[in-house]
Amino acid sequence: MIKINQKIEPSLNHKTECLILPCVEIKKTTGLLKEIDDSLQGAISAAIKNKRFSGKPNQTLLLNSTGKASNILLLGIGEAKEVTAEKICQAAATAVKVLEKSKFKSVAADLSALESIAKGKSGLYGELAGAVAEGAGLALYHFDNYKSKDKDDVQLEKLTLLNTSKAQQSSVEKSISRAEKIVHAVHIARDLISHPGNTVTPTYLAEHAKKMARKNKITCKVLGKKEMKKLGMGSLLGVAQGSDEPPALIVLEYNGAGKKKAPTVIVGKGITFDTGGISLKPGGGMDEMKMDMSGSATTLATLELVASLKLKVNIVGIVAAAENMPSGSAIKPGDILKSMSGKTIEVLNTDAEGRLVLADALTYAQRYKPKEVIDLATLTGAVLHALGHQAAAVIGNNPAMIQKLKDAGEATGERVWELPLWDEHEKATKSDIADLKNIASPGVGAGTTMGAAFLKPFAGDQPWTHIDIAGTAWGFDRPYTNKGASGFGVRLLLNYLEKTR
Ligand code: BES
Ligand code: MN
Ligand code: ZN
Repeated sequence: MIKINQKIEPSLNHKTECLILPCVEIKKTTGLLKEIDDSLQGAISAAIKNKRFSGKPNQTLLLNSTGKASNILLLGIGEAKEVTAEKICQAAATAVKVLEKSKFKSVAADLSALESIAKGKSGLYGELAGAVAEGAGLALYHFDNYKSKDKDDVQLEKLTLLNTSKAQQSSVEKSISRAEKIVHAVHIARDLISHPGNTVTPTYLAEHAKKMARKNKITCKVLGKKEMKKLGMGSLLGVAQGSDEPPALIVLEYNGAGKKKAPTVIVGKGITFDTGGISLKPGGGMDEMKMDMSGSATTLATLELVASLKLKVNIVGIVAAAENMPSGSAIKPGDILKSMSGKTIEVLNTDAEGRLVLADALTYAQRYKPKEVIDLATLTGAVLHALGHQAAAVIGNNPAMIQKLKDAGEATGERVWELPLWDEHEKATKSDIADLKNIASPGVGAGTTMGAAFLKPFAGDQPWTHIDIAGTAWGFDRPYTNKGASGFGVRLLLNYLEKTR
Protein backbone atom coordinates (compact mmCIF):
# COMPACT_ATOMS: atom_id res chain seq x y z
CA MET A 1 0.00 0.00 0.00
CA ILE A 2 1.18 3.52 -0.79
CA LYS A 3 2.61 5.43 2.21
CA ILE A 4 0.79 8.66 2.89
CA ASN A 5 2.09 11.40 5.13
CA GLN A 6 1.50 15.07 5.83
CA LYS A 7 3.90 17.98 5.70
CA ILE A 8 3.31 21.54 6.83
CA GLU A 9 5.00 23.29 3.95
CA PRO A 10 4.06 25.61 1.09
CA SER A 11 3.89 23.58 -2.10
CA LEU A 12 6.38 25.77 -3.95
CA ASN A 13 9.06 24.94 -1.34
CA HIS A 14 8.53 21.19 -1.50
CA LYS A 15 10.94 19.09 -3.50
CA THR A 16 9.16 16.23 -5.25
CA GLU A 17 9.07 14.23 -8.47
CA CYS A 18 5.59 15.51 -9.13
CA LEU A 19 3.20 17.92 -7.44
CA ILE A 20 -0.51 17.19 -7.79
CA LEU A 21 -2.32 20.50 -7.99
CA PRO A 22 -6.09 20.22 -7.48
CA CYS A 23 -7.91 23.03 -9.33
CA VAL A 24 -11.54 24.05 -9.35
CA GLU A 25 -13.01 25.05 -12.72
CA ILE A 26 -11.09 28.08 -13.90
CA LYS A 27 -10.92 30.56 -16.75
CA LYS A 28 -7.69 32.21 -15.62
CA THR A 29 -4.91 31.59 -13.11
CA THR A 30 -4.89 33.37 -9.74
CA GLY A 31 -3.12 32.91 -6.41
CA LEU A 32 -0.84 29.89 -6.11
CA LEU A 33 -1.78 28.78 -9.61
CA LYS A 34 -0.65 32.15 -11.01
CA GLU A 35 2.66 31.86 -9.16
CA ILE A 36 3.24 28.40 -10.57
CA ASP A 37 2.08 29.57 -14.00
CA ASP A 38 4.65 32.39 -13.94
CA SER A 39 7.39 29.96 -12.98
CA LEU A 40 6.33 27.80 -15.93
CA GLN A 41 6.43 30.74 -18.35
CA GLY A 42 2.65 30.77 -18.68
CA ALA A 43 2.24 27.05 -19.50
CA ILE A 44 -0.92 26.78 -17.39
CA SER A 45 -2.64 29.84 -18.83
CA ALA A 46 -1.74 28.59 -22.30
CA ALA A 47 -3.34 25.22 -21.50
CA ILE A 48 -6.48 26.95 -20.28
CA LYS A 49 -6.59 29.16 -23.38
CA ASN A 50 -6.10 26.17 -25.69
CA LYS A 51 -8.79 24.24 -23.79
CA ARG A 52 -6.39 21.52 -22.73
CA PHE A 53 -7.37 22.17 -19.12
CA SER A 54 -10.40 23.77 -17.49
CA GLY A 55 -10.61 22.09 -14.07
CA LYS A 56 -13.54 19.80 -14.93
CA PRO A 57 -13.83 16.83 -12.55
CA ASN A 58 -11.08 14.23 -13.04
CA GLN A 59 -9.36 16.14 -15.83
CA THR A 60 -5.56 15.90 -15.67
CA LEU A 61 -2.66 17.63 -17.40
CA LEU A 62 0.95 16.70 -16.71
CA LEU A 63 3.50 19.51 -17.15
CA ASN A 64 7.28 19.61 -16.82
CA SER A 65 8.60 22.10 -14.34
CA THR A 66 12.00 23.51 -13.41
CA GLY A 67 10.91 24.43 -9.88
CA LYS A 68 11.23 22.34 -6.71
CA ALA A 69 8.71 19.98 -8.22
CA SER A 70 10.10 18.37 -11.36
CA ASN A 71 6.59 17.90 -12.72
CA ILE A 72 3.18 19.28 -12.01
CA LEU A 73 -0.09 17.42 -12.48
CA LEU A 74 -3.04 19.75 -12.82
CA LEU A 75 -6.08 17.95 -11.44
CA GLY A 76 -9.63 19.14 -12.10
CA ILE A 77 -12.06 18.96 -9.17
CA GLY A 78 -15.01 20.82 -10.74
CA GLU A 79 -17.07 23.72 -9.39
CA ALA A 80 -16.14 24.62 -5.82
CA LYS A 81 -19.74 24.51 -4.58
CA GLU A 82 -20.21 21.00 -5.96
CA VAL A 83 -17.12 19.47 -4.40
CA THR A 84 -17.78 16.49 -2.10
CA ALA A 85 -15.50 13.97 -0.40
CA GLU A 86 -16.50 11.33 -2.95
CA LYS A 87 -15.60 13.64 -5.85
CA ILE A 88 -12.19 14.33 -4.29
CA CYS A 89 -11.73 10.60 -3.74
CA GLN A 90 -12.38 10.02 -7.45
CA ALA A 91 -10.12 12.88 -8.56
CA ALA A 92 -7.24 11.71 -6.34
CA ALA A 93 -7.67 8.20 -7.71
CA THR A 94 -7.54 9.50 -11.27
CA ALA A 95 -4.39 11.47 -10.49
CA VAL A 96 -2.43 8.63 -8.92
CA LYS A 97 -3.35 6.31 -11.77
CA VAL A 98 -1.85 8.82 -14.25
CA LEU A 99 1.27 9.16 -12.10
CA GLU A 100 1.59 5.41 -11.63
CA LYS A 101 1.55 4.97 -15.42
CA SER A 102 4.22 7.67 -15.74
CA LYS A 103 6.43 5.68 -13.34
CA PHE A 104 6.72 8.21 -10.54
CA LYS A 105 7.83 6.83 -7.19
CA SER A 106 7.15 9.61 -4.75
CA VAL A 107 4.74 12.48 -5.27
CA ALA A 108 3.00 15.23 -3.30
CA ALA A 109 -0.41 16.87 -3.38
CA ASP A 110 -1.19 20.50 -2.71
CA LEU A 111 -4.23 20.87 -0.44
CA SER A 112 -4.76 24.62 -0.73
CA ALA A 113 -7.74 24.36 -3.11
CA LEU A 114 -9.44 22.04 -0.63
CA GLU A 115 -8.64 24.35 2.24
CA SER A 116 -10.33 27.29 0.57
CA ILE A 117 -13.37 25.19 -0.41
CA ALA A 118 -13.74 24.09 3.22
CA LYS A 119 -13.28 27.53 4.71
CA GLY A 120 -15.87 28.14 7.44
CA LYS A 121 -17.23 24.58 7.27
CA SER A 122 -16.10 22.75 10.36
CA GLY A 123 -14.51 19.36 9.72
CA LEU A 124 -14.75 19.56 5.92
CA TYR A 125 -11.06 20.24 5.29
CA GLY A 126 -10.02 17.13 7.20
CA GLU A 127 -12.68 15.12 5.41
CA LEU A 128 -11.51 16.28 1.98
CA ALA A 129 -7.86 15.63 2.85
CA GLY A 130 -8.88 12.14 3.98
CA ALA A 131 -10.66 11.64 0.67
CA VAL A 132 -7.39 12.34 -1.18
CA ALA A 133 -5.68 9.63 0.86
CA GLU A 134 -8.59 7.23 0.43
CA GLY A 135 -8.83 7.68 -3.34
CA ALA A 136 -5.07 7.33 -3.78
CA GLY A 137 -4.86 4.22 -1.61
CA LEU A 138 -7.83 2.50 -3.24
CA ALA A 139 -6.76 3.27 -6.81
CA LEU A 140 -3.32 1.70 -6.52
CA TYR A 141 -4.59 -1.76 -5.58
CA HIS A 142 -3.31 -4.63 -7.69
CA PHE A 143 -3.77 -8.30 -7.09
CA ASP A 144 -0.43 -9.81 -8.04
CA ASN A 145 0.00 -12.50 -5.38
CA TYR A 146 0.40 -15.22 -8.00
CA LYS A 147 2.75 -13.34 -10.35
CA SER A 148 6.51 -13.63 -10.34
CA LYS A 149 8.07 -10.33 -9.26
CA ASP A 150 9.10 -8.02 -12.08
CA LYS A 151 12.35 -6.45 -10.85
CA ASP A 152 12.09 -3.45 -13.16
CA ASP A 153 8.59 -2.58 -12.03
CA VAL A 154 8.39 0.94 -10.58
CA GLN A 155 5.76 1.50 -7.94
CA LEU A 156 4.24 4.68 -6.65
CA GLU A 157 5.31 4.36 -3.04
CA LYS A 158 4.73 7.66 -1.36
CA LEU A 159 2.27 10.53 -1.32
CA THR A 160 2.87 13.62 0.79
CA LEU A 161 -0.09 15.85 1.54
CA LEU A 162 1.05 19.46 1.71
CA ASN A 163 -0.96 21.34 4.26
CA THR A 164 -0.16 24.94 5.14
CA SER A 165 -2.68 25.23 7.96
CA LYS A 166 -1.00 24.37 11.25
CA ALA A 167 -4.40 24.62 12.97
CA GLN A 168 -5.68 21.74 10.84
CA GLN A 169 -2.63 19.54 11.26
CA SER A 170 -4.15 17.09 13.73
CA SER A 171 -7.43 16.90 11.85
CA VAL A 172 -5.58 16.04 8.62
CA GLU A 173 -3.46 13.52 10.51
CA LYS A 174 -6.56 11.79 11.87
CA SER A 175 -8.14 11.74 8.44
CA ILE A 176 -5.08 10.11 6.92
CA SER A 177 -5.06 7.40 9.55
CA ARG A 178 -8.78 6.79 9.09
CA ALA A 179 -8.35 6.62 5.31
CA GLU A 180 -5.56 4.08 5.72
CA LYS A 181 -7.86 1.87 7.77
CA ILE A 182 -10.61 2.11 5.18
CA VAL A 183 -8.21 1.32 2.35
CA HIS A 184 -6.77 -1.60 4.29
CA ALA A 185 -10.24 -3.06 4.86
CA VAL A 186 -11.31 -2.66 1.23
CA HIS A 187 -8.07 -4.29 0.12
CA ILE A 188 -8.71 -7.24 2.41
CA ALA A 189 -12.11 -7.73 0.82
CA ARG A 190 -10.58 -7.41 -2.65
CA ASP A 191 -7.88 -9.95 -1.80
CA LEU A 192 -10.37 -12.49 -0.46
CA ILE A 193 -12.48 -12.12 -3.60
CA SER A 194 -9.53 -12.24 -6.01
CA HIS A 195 -7.93 -15.40 -4.64
CA PRO A 196 -9.15 -18.40 -6.62
CA GLY A 197 -11.50 -21.04 -5.30
CA ASN A 198 -8.68 -23.49 -4.64
CA THR A 199 -7.27 -21.05 -2.09
CA VAL A 200 -10.36 -19.41 -0.63
CA THR A 201 -12.50 -22.31 0.57
CA PRO A 202 -15.07 -22.14 3.39
CA THR A 203 -12.31 -23.36 5.73
CA TYR A 204 -10.01 -20.56 4.54
CA LEU A 205 -12.71 -17.96 5.21
CA ALA A 206 -13.21 -19.39 8.70
CA GLU A 207 -9.47 -19.32 9.44
CA HIS A 208 -9.24 -15.77 8.13
CA ALA A 209 -12.16 -14.73 10.34
CA LYS A 210 -10.62 -16.34 13.44
CA LYS A 211 -7.27 -14.65 12.88
CA MET A 212 -8.91 -11.30 12.18
CA ALA A 213 -11.07 -11.57 15.30
CA ARG A 214 -8.05 -12.39 17.47
CA LYS A 215 -6.30 -9.21 16.30
CA ASN A 216 -9.37 -7.10 17.01
CA LYS A 217 -11.91 -6.89 19.79
CA ILE A 218 -14.16 -9.36 18.08
CA THR A 219 -15.34 -12.81 19.12
CA CYS A 220 -15.58 -15.50 16.49
CA LYS A 221 -17.15 -18.90 16.40
CA VAL A 222 -17.37 -21.27 13.49
CA LEU A 223 -20.10 -23.83 13.16
CA GLY A 224 -19.16 -26.92 11.18
CA LYS A 225 -21.30 -29.59 9.57
CA LYS A 226 -22.08 -31.29 12.88
CA GLU A 227 -23.29 -28.14 14.64
CA MET A 228 -25.30 -27.14 11.60
CA LYS A 229 -26.94 -30.54 11.48
CA LYS A 230 -27.91 -30.19 15.12
CA LEU A 231 -29.51 -26.84 14.38
CA GLY A 232 -31.37 -28.31 11.42
CA MET A 233 -29.71 -26.15 8.79
CA GLY A 234 -30.76 -28.44 5.98
CA SER A 235 -30.86 -25.68 3.43
CA LEU A 236 -27.22 -24.60 3.85
CA LEU A 237 -26.09 -28.21 4.22
CA GLY A 238 -27.99 -29.14 1.07
CA VAL A 239 -25.89 -26.74 -0.99
CA ALA A 240 -22.66 -27.98 0.60
CA GLN A 241 -23.37 -31.69 0.21
CA GLY A 242 -22.07 -31.96 -3.36
CA SER A 243 -18.63 -30.64 -2.43
CA ASP A 244 -15.62 -32.20 -0.75
CA GLU A 245 -15.02 -28.85 0.96
CA PRO A 246 -16.82 -28.73 4.32
CA PRO A 247 -19.14 -25.74 4.82
CA ALA A 248 -18.78 -23.20 7.60
CA LEU A 249 -21.11 -20.79 9.34
CA ILE A 250 -18.89 -18.04 10.65
CA VAL A 251 -20.28 -15.84 13.42
CA LEU A 252 -18.49 -12.68 14.53
CA GLU A 253 -19.57 -10.38 17.34
CA TYR A 254 -18.33 -6.86 17.88
CA ASN A 255 -19.61 -5.01 20.95
CA GLY A 256 -18.80 -1.32 20.76
CA ALA A 257 -21.97 -0.05 22.42
CA GLY A 258 -22.33 -2.19 25.53
CA LYS A 259 -24.02 -5.55 25.93
CA LYS A 260 -27.60 -4.33 26.06
CA LYS A 261 -28.06 -2.67 22.69
CA ALA A 262 -29.61 -4.78 19.95
CA PRO A 263 -27.06 -5.34 17.20
CA THR A 264 -27.06 -4.71 13.49
CA VAL A 265 -26.59 -8.12 11.91
CA ILE A 266 -24.72 -8.30 8.62
CA VAL A 267 -25.13 -11.56 6.72
CA GLY A 268 -22.83 -12.42 3.81
CA LYS A 269 -23.19 -14.99 1.04
CA GLY A 270 -20.00 -17.03 1.04
CA ILE A 271 -20.17 -19.40 -1.92
CA THR A 272 -16.45 -19.86 -2.48
CA PHE A 273 -17.11 -21.26 -5.95
CA ASP A 274 -20.42 -21.49 -7.77
CA THR A 275 -20.43 -24.07 -10.56
CA GLY A 276 -24.23 -24.01 -10.51
CA GLY A 277 -24.23 -27.57 -9.14
CA ILE A 278 -26.23 -30.14 -11.14
CA SER A 279 -27.90 -27.16 -12.87
CA LEU A 280 -24.37 -26.56 -14.18
CA LYS A 281 -23.39 -23.14 -15.45
CA PRO A 282 -21.98 -22.77 -18.98
CA GLY A 283 -18.17 -22.96 -19.14
CA GLY A 284 -17.46 -19.49 -20.53
CA GLY A 285 -16.60 -17.10 -17.73
CA MET A 286 -17.29 -19.64 -15.01
CA ASP A 287 -13.90 -18.79 -13.45
CA GLU A 288 -15.45 -15.50 -12.33
CA MET A 289 -17.66 -17.45 -9.92
CA LYS A 290 -14.77 -17.45 -7.45
CA MET A 291 -16.23 -14.04 -6.59
CA ASP A 292 -19.46 -15.58 -5.29
CA MET A 293 -18.20 -15.09 -1.73
CA SER A 294 -18.02 -11.28 -2.14
CA GLY A 295 -20.83 -10.71 0.34
CA SER A 296 -18.85 -12.60 2.95
CA ALA A 297 -15.65 -10.69 2.09
CA THR A 298 -17.51 -7.42 2.62
CA THR A 299 -18.96 -8.70 5.89
CA LEU A 300 -15.55 -9.76 7.24
CA ALA A 301 -13.81 -6.57 6.10
CA THR A 302 -16.57 -4.34 7.50
CA LEU A 303 -16.34 -5.97 10.92
CA GLU A 304 -12.59 -5.54 10.95
CA LEU A 305 -12.92 -1.90 9.92
CA VAL A 306 -15.60 -1.10 12.47
CA ALA A 307 -13.45 -2.63 15.21
CA SER A 308 -10.30 -0.82 14.11
CA LEU A 309 -12.18 2.49 14.06
CA LYS A 310 -13.71 1.60 17.45
CA LEU A 311 -17.22 2.49 16.33
CA LYS A 312 -19.73 2.67 19.16
CA VAL A 313 -22.08 0.13 17.64
CA ASN A 314 -22.94 -3.51 18.17
CA ILE A 315 -22.50 -5.61 15.08
CA VAL A 316 -22.83 -9.29 14.39
CA GLY A 317 -21.41 -10.68 11.17
CA ILE A 318 -22.64 -14.01 9.85
CA VAL A 319 -21.03 -15.69 6.88
CA ALA A 320 -22.68 -18.66 5.21
CA ALA A 321 -19.79 -20.38 3.48
CA ALA A 322 -20.04 -23.38 1.15
CA GLU A 323 -18.94 -24.53 -2.28
CA ASN A 324 -21.58 -25.31 -4.92
CA MET A 325 -20.45 -28.38 -6.86
CA PRO A 326 -22.06 -31.08 -9.02
CA SER A 327 -21.27 -34.60 -7.85
CA GLY A 328 -22.82 -37.93 -6.97
CA SER A 329 -23.77 -36.54 -3.61
CA ALA A 330 -25.05 -33.14 -4.85
CA ILE A 331 -28.64 -31.99 -4.50
CA LYS A 332 -30.74 -32.43 -7.64
CA PRO A 333 -33.56 -30.40 -9.12
CA GLY A 334 -36.72 -31.49 -7.36
CA ASP A 335 -35.02 -32.33 -4.07
CA ILE A 336 -36.70 -30.94 -0.98
CA LEU A 337 -34.68 -29.47 1.88
CA LYS A 338 -35.81 -28.63 5.39
CA SER A 339 -34.44 -25.31 6.60
CA MET A 340 -33.58 -24.34 10.17
CA SER A 341 -36.78 -22.25 10.30
CA GLY A 342 -38.81 -25.42 9.71
CA LYS A 343 -39.89 -24.28 6.27
CA THR A 344 -39.37 -26.81 3.48
CA ILE A 345 -37.81 -25.79 0.18
CA GLU A 346 -38.21 -27.42 -3.20
CA VAL A 347 -34.93 -26.96 -5.06
CA LEU A 348 -35.92 -26.46 -8.69
CA ASN A 349 -32.55 -25.08 -9.75
CA THR A 350 -29.35 -25.90 -7.90
CA ASP A 351 -27.78 -22.72 -9.30
CA ALA A 352 -30.10 -20.63 -7.10
CA GLU A 353 -27.94 -21.72 -4.16
CA GLY A 354 -27.21 -18.33 -2.60
CA ARG A 355 -30.73 -17.95 -1.26
CA LEU A 356 -30.52 -21.47 0.19
CA VAL A 357 -27.45 -20.77 2.29
CA LEU A 358 -28.76 -17.32 3.25
CA ALA A 359 -32.09 -18.74 4.41
CA ASP A 360 -30.44 -20.61 7.29
CA ALA A 361 -28.01 -17.78 8.05
CA LEU A 362 -30.93 -15.31 8.28
CA THR A 363 -32.79 -17.67 10.60
CA TYR A 364 -29.68 -17.96 12.76
CA ALA A 365 -29.49 -14.15 12.87
CA GLN A 366 -32.83 -14.07 14.69
CA ARG A 367 -31.05 -15.41 17.81
CA TYR A 368 -29.58 -11.97 18.31
CA LYS A 369 -32.97 -10.18 18.37
CA PRO A 370 -31.40 -7.72 15.94
CA LYS A 371 -32.17 -4.05 15.61
CA GLU A 372 -31.84 -4.58 11.87
CA VAL A 373 -30.50 -7.10 9.39
CA ILE A 374 -28.53 -6.40 6.22
CA ASP A 375 -27.62 -9.20 3.87
CA LEU A 376 -25.06 -8.84 1.10
CA ALA A 377 -25.01 -11.32 -1.71
CA THR A 378 -23.92 -11.86 -5.29
CA LEU A 379 -27.36 -13.36 -5.71
CA THR A 380 -28.57 -12.82 -9.26
CA GLY A 381 -27.21 -12.24 -12.73
CA ALA A 382 -30.44 -10.31 -13.31
CA VAL A 383 -29.16 -7.35 -11.30
CA LEU A 384 -26.58 -6.82 -14.06
CA HIS A 385 -29.42 -6.40 -16.55
CA ALA A 386 -31.18 -3.92 -14.28
CA LEU A 387 -28.29 -1.79 -13.05
CA GLY A 388 -25.08 -2.94 -14.77
CA HIS A 389 -21.86 -2.31 -12.88
CA GLN A 390 -23.10 1.03 -11.55
CA ALA A 391 -25.21 0.24 -8.50
CA ALA A 392 -26.26 -2.60 -6.26
CA ALA A 393 -29.95 -3.43 -5.87
CA VAL A 394 -31.59 -2.97 -2.48
CA ILE A 395 -34.84 -4.64 -1.52
CA GLY A 396 -36.29 -4.73 1.96
CA ASN A 397 -39.17 -4.34 4.33
CA ASN A 398 -38.43 -0.86 5.70
CA PRO A 399 -38.44 2.27 3.51
CA ALA A 400 -36.59 4.43 6.06
CA MET A 401 -33.74 1.93 6.25
CA ILE A 402 -33.52 1.77 2.46
CA GLN A 403 -33.44 5.57 2.23
CA LYS A 404 -30.53 5.66 4.68
CA LEU A 405 -28.66 3.10 2.64
CA LYS A 406 -29.31 5.12 -0.51
CA ASP A 407 -27.91 8.22 1.21
CA ALA A 408 -24.83 6.27 2.28
CA GLY A 409 -24.48 5.09 -1.31
CA GLU A 410 -24.57 8.65 -2.67
CA ALA A 411 -22.03 9.81 -0.09
CA THR A 412 -19.56 7.01 -0.82
CA GLY A 413 -20.14 6.45 -4.54
CA GLU A 414 -21.17 2.88 -3.70
CA ARG A 415 -24.62 3.49 -5.10
CA VAL A 416 -27.63 1.35 -4.32
CA TRP A 417 -30.97 1.43 -6.10
CA GLU A 418 -34.25 0.10 -4.79
CA LEU A 419 -36.24 -2.58 -6.58
CA PRO A 420 -39.77 -3.46 -5.45
CA LEU A 421 -40.96 -6.53 -3.58
CA TRP A 422 -44.73 -6.91 -3.69
CA ASP A 423 -47.07 -9.58 -2.31
CA GLU A 424 -47.51 -10.90 -5.85
CA HIS A 425 -43.76 -11.60 -5.98
CA GLU A 426 -43.89 -13.42 -2.68
CA LYS A 427 -46.78 -15.56 -3.87
CA ALA A 428 -44.64 -16.68 -6.79
CA THR A 429 -42.21 -18.33 -4.34
CA LYS A 430 -44.82 -20.84 -3.11
CA SER A 431 -44.19 -24.43 -4.13
CA ASP A 432 -46.86 -26.99 -5.06
CA ILE A 433 -45.41 -29.62 -2.76
CA ALA A 434 -43.20 -27.74 -0.27
CA ASP A 435 -43.48 -24.39 1.53
CA LEU A 436 -41.22 -22.58 -0.92
CA LYS A 437 -39.44 -23.18 -4.19
CA ASN A 438 -36.04 -21.66 -4.85
CA ILE A 439 -36.90 -20.32 -8.31
CA ALA A 440 -40.16 -18.98 -9.67
CA SER A 441 -42.02 -20.51 -12.59
CA PRO A 442 -40.82 -19.54 -16.07
CA GLY A 443 -42.16 -16.19 -17.18
CA VAL A 444 -42.39 -14.58 -13.75
CA GLY A 445 -39.21 -12.58 -14.46
CA ALA A 446 -37.96 -10.01 -11.94
CA GLY A 447 -35.00 -12.25 -11.10
CA THR A 448 -33.44 -9.97 -8.50
CA THR A 449 -36.72 -9.28 -6.75
CA MET A 450 -37.55 -13.00 -6.73
CA GLY A 451 -34.28 -13.71 -4.93
CA ALA A 452 -35.30 -11.25 -2.22
CA ALA A 453 -38.86 -12.57 -2.15
CA PHE A 454 -37.48 -15.99 -1.29
CA LEU A 455 -35.34 -14.55 1.53
CA LYS A 456 -38.08 -12.44 3.11
CA PRO A 457 -39.81 -15.20 5.13
CA PHE A 458 -36.46 -15.98 6.78
CA ALA A 459 -35.44 -12.38 7.47
CA GLY A 460 -37.66 -11.63 10.49
CA ASP A 461 -39.97 -8.70 11.19
CA GLN A 462 -37.34 -6.16 12.22
CA PRO A 463 -36.03 -3.84 9.50
CA TRP A 464 -34.21 -5.91 6.87
CA THR A 465 -32.50 -4.99 3.62
CA HIS A 466 -31.08 -7.35 1.03
CA ILE A 467 -28.26 -5.92 -1.09
CA ASP A 468 -27.60 -7.74 -4.37
CA ILE A 469 -23.99 -7.00 -5.27
CA ALA A 470 -23.64 -9.42 -8.22
CA GLY A 471 -23.03 -6.46 -10.57
CA THR A 472 -20.81 -4.35 -8.33
CA ALA A 473 -18.62 -6.77 -6.39
CA TRP A 474 -16.77 -7.41 -9.64
CA GLY A 475 -16.09 -4.81 -12.33
CA PHE A 476 -17.54 -1.89 -10.35
CA ASP A 477 -16.78 1.16 -12.44
CA ARG A 478 -15.11 3.97 -10.49
CA PRO A 479 -11.74 5.77 -10.79
CA TYR A 480 -10.64 4.12 -7.53
CA THR A 481 -11.45 0.58 -8.66
CA ASN A 482 -9.49 -1.64 -11.01
CA LYS A 483 -10.44 -4.67 -13.07
CA GLY A 484 -11.92 -7.45 -10.96
CA ALA A 485 -12.82 -7.29 -7.28
CA SER A 486 -14.03 -3.94 -5.94
CA GLY A 487 -14.70 -4.57 -2.27
CA PHE A 488 -18.08 -2.88 -2.82
CA GLY A 489 -20.08 -2.48 0.36
CA VAL A 490 -17.33 -1.82 2.88
CA ARG A 491 -17.36 1.97 2.46
CA LEU A 492 -21.13 1.93 2.04
CA LEU A 493 -21.74 0.08 5.30
CA LEU A 494 -19.20 2.12 7.25
CA ASN A 495 -20.96 5.31 6.22
CA TYR A 496 -24.37 3.79 7.00
CA LEU A 497 -23.30 2.55 10.43
CA GLU A 498 -21.68 5.86 11.35
CA LYS A 499 -24.69 7.90 10.25
CA THR A 500 -27.34 5.76 11.93
CA ARG A 501 -25.84 4.97 15.28
N1 BES B 1 -23.80 -16.48 -8.11
C1 BES B 1 -24.85 -16.41 -9.04
C2 BES B 1 -25.22 -14.99 -9.43
C3 BES B 1 -24.18 -14.19 -10.18
C4 BES B 1 -24.28 -14.03 -11.54
C5 BES B 1 -23.18 -13.55 -9.50
C6 BES B 1 -23.36 -13.25 -12.21
C7 BES B 1 -22.25 -12.79 -10.18
C8 BES B 1 -22.35 -12.62 -11.53
C9 BES B 1 -26.10 -17.07 -8.43
O1 BES B 1 -25.87 -18.10 -7.55
C10 BES B 1 -26.89 -17.62 -9.57
O2 BES B 1 -26.41 -18.51 -10.21
N2 BES B 1 -28.08 -17.09 -9.77
C11 BES B 1 -28.94 -17.53 -10.80
C12 BES B 1 -30.33 -17.58 -10.26
C13 BES B 1 -31.31 -18.28 -11.14
C14 BES B 1 -30.98 -19.75 -11.26
C15 BES B 1 -32.69 -18.09 -10.57
C16 BES B 1 -28.84 -16.53 -11.95
O3 BES B 1 -28.72 -15.34 -11.72
O4 BES B 1 -28.86 -16.98 -13.09
MN1 MN C 1 -25.65 -19.95 -8.54
ZN1 ZN D 1 -24.09 -18.06 -6.57
